[in-house]
Amino acid sequence: MFHKNNLHSRPRRVIRFSRFLSLTIAIVFLAALMLELPAPIPAAGRPPTKTPIPTVGGATSTPSTVGCTSGADCVSKMTLAEKIGQMTQADHNALTTPSDITTYFLGSLLSGGGGGPSGAGGTSTQWADMIDNYQSYALNTRLHIPLLYGVDAVHGNNNIYGAVLFPHHIGMGAAHDTALITQAEQVTRDEVLGAGARWTFAPGVMVPQDDRWGREYEGYSEVASDVQADGAAAIVGFQGSNGALGVTNILATAKHFVADGHTKYGTGSSGYLIDQGDAQITEAVLDAVDLPPYTTAVSNKIGSIMASYSSWNGLKMHANQYLMTTVLKGQIGFSGFIVSDWKAIDQISSDYAYDVRTAINAGIDMVMVPTAYKTFISTLTNEVNAGNVPMSRIDDAVTRIINTKIALGLWTQPYSNRSYTTNVGSAAHRAIAQQAVRESLVLLKNDGVLPLSKTAIYKIIVAGDHADDLGNQTGGWSISWQGSSGTHTVGTTFWQAIQAVKPANVTLQFVSQTAGNYSGDVGIVVVGEAPYAEGQGDSSTLAMPSGAASAITNVCSKVTKCIVMLESGRPLIINSQLATSNAFIAAWLPGTEGRGLTDVLFGDYGFTGKLTFTWPNAVTQEPINNGDGQTGLFPYGFGITPY
Ligand code: BGC
Ligand code: BGC
Repeated sequence: MFHKNNLHSRPRRVIRFSRFLSLTIAIVFLAALMLELPAPIPAAGRPPTKTPIPTVGGATSTPSTVGCTSGADCVSKMTLAEKIGQMTQADHNALTTPSDITTYFLGSLLSGGGGGPSGAGGTSTQWADMIDNYQSYALNTRLHIPLLYGVDAVHGNNNIYGAVLFPHHIGMGAAHDTALITQAEQVTRDEVLGAGARWTFAPGVMVPQDDRWGREYEGYSEVASDVQADGAAAIVGFQGSNGALGVTNILATAKHFVADGHTKYGTGSSGYLIDQGDAQITEAVLDAVDLPPYTTAVSNKIGSIMASYSSWNGLKMHANQYLMTTVLKGQIGFSGFIVSDWKAIDQISSDYAYDVRTAINAGIDMVMVPTAYKTFISTLTNEVNAGNVPMSRIDDAVTRIINTKIALGLWTQPYSNRSYTTNVGSAAHRAIAQQAVRESLVLLKNDGVLPLSKTAIYKIIVAGDHADDLGNQTGGWSISWQGSSGTHTVGTTFWQAIQAVKPANVTLQFVSQTAGNYSGDVGIVVVGEAPYAEGQGDSSTLAMPSGAASAITNVCSKVTKCIVMLESGRPLIINSQLATSNAFIAAWLPGTEGRGLTDVLFGDYGFTGKLTFTWPNAVTQEPINNGDGQTGLFPYGFGITPY
């Protein structure tokens, strides 16, 4: 439940004061106050004597004056407990009580996939109220250092009910339009700001090499140069040009460092086939394929980078000091902070103290714990006190985190700006997503059926389990972590869109039982993969779901011409469906704006998308990539543009 308890968010000292009115007790109160302060604050940085009481939904509350002014200044004033708190990121659902933010000086909280104010979903207003409330606890610490709240806004601010959901990265990559990516991420940025968060764990800059990977759709392309260009465009959209940040931008995260897209099939961790696995590649290959997007991200002033669950030649990335510290921070010159992935340091070994010291010494600056934050804090404290983690490493991590928070303008504006909240899901935002959907479509086959006539009199049959299902159309990382079928948010399905745009002389019929009795001139079958995220989407077959295959067979046998629209997170094995159909469109995971899918049907717009992934003929060709000498069904760069 969302914390409505006003009382809870009031500073303890105010409650105490109201209980006792005598001067004597006031002295006791002052003494108690002193006890709460572990170290005296130098006069210059001292907060106002009357700390403003943060209001829940703090748009109207006055920010406290932060007790330090720069990374170096803060570090010089902070206790070890305060420093370790800054390095700790907890999932908000894991908090025993919100006052733990104050007690443990927590520097960051996140919402995992589906981690809304009261379960999955929730409106932007409810999110902003929740985050502002958490912020009030951070501002009640001795130095009043603001909290940094992170979310996975990976295709729009996708955890929020009513937010605009864009195509996943695979579709944005197919559009080959970096200006559009920047515009899309500016919309996402504004919708993140509207929900009170200041940090997104995006863009994914993986270079997926094996289509069987469940995270392929989180990547723009199998070709590094595409990912470099698209990733840079996304970073500018989130952070502003040249790492501007400030109160009108949000912090971006390039993830997952590095070679998460290059793991060998069969080496997966956490019970997965390929996800979180081992990239068994030479350093030369890593430098050529997986590292370039990070070099480009750093030159575009990326503020944070997330380490990968995966390993490189047997060593977990979270333990890889050479790649994180020597290469990324040293040679490439990354000056932001590295955040670990969800519970990922726990995978280094079975000894948690070893995991903690190894990860921090290797270069992790902030740990996405995310649940057992008290254990993490006590473990890191012990490791520092035992001399296993040098104070210089702690100070470096904290300096990086604080400098980023200051650059974000959290010192002057820690609470949400509600003027963004009213624009979440606006028509203007949806129009950009609609354009993105349109541009992302890749036409793989057209025997002349497209574009459909605007003037003839004819009947269209619409079918398929993705035709009128917003959840299927949006895929994973949509309202919940794994996504789900059904109507989970605001948007337009393909079926709703075609009803709105069809010419008057065209008759439409929706067919849910494709084996039934019906006929038509044109059939449009919208099918695809059921929603999934991460390793749960790893596939050994890349097969068309059986329901999709039979819907295509059925509809194509009953209409004169049939069009297949495939909504998937990657290429699937489509050879027989391609042969059966008159036109075939790869529509990826388009998001909430189904109008983008119908824009192209009647010739109002043309097809412009091109494959950024080689399309395999058979799963046995995996991994199959541009330039590897294999001939797939369609090469990288393919896409028909007849109009
Ligand atoms: C994923 C990350 C994500 C994090 C927080 C992890 O499971 O690998 O991409 O940012 O969770 O939800
Ligand atoms: C969270 C995700 C996270 C995943 C990692 C889920 O419970 O909701 O955000 O990525 O766990 O396993």
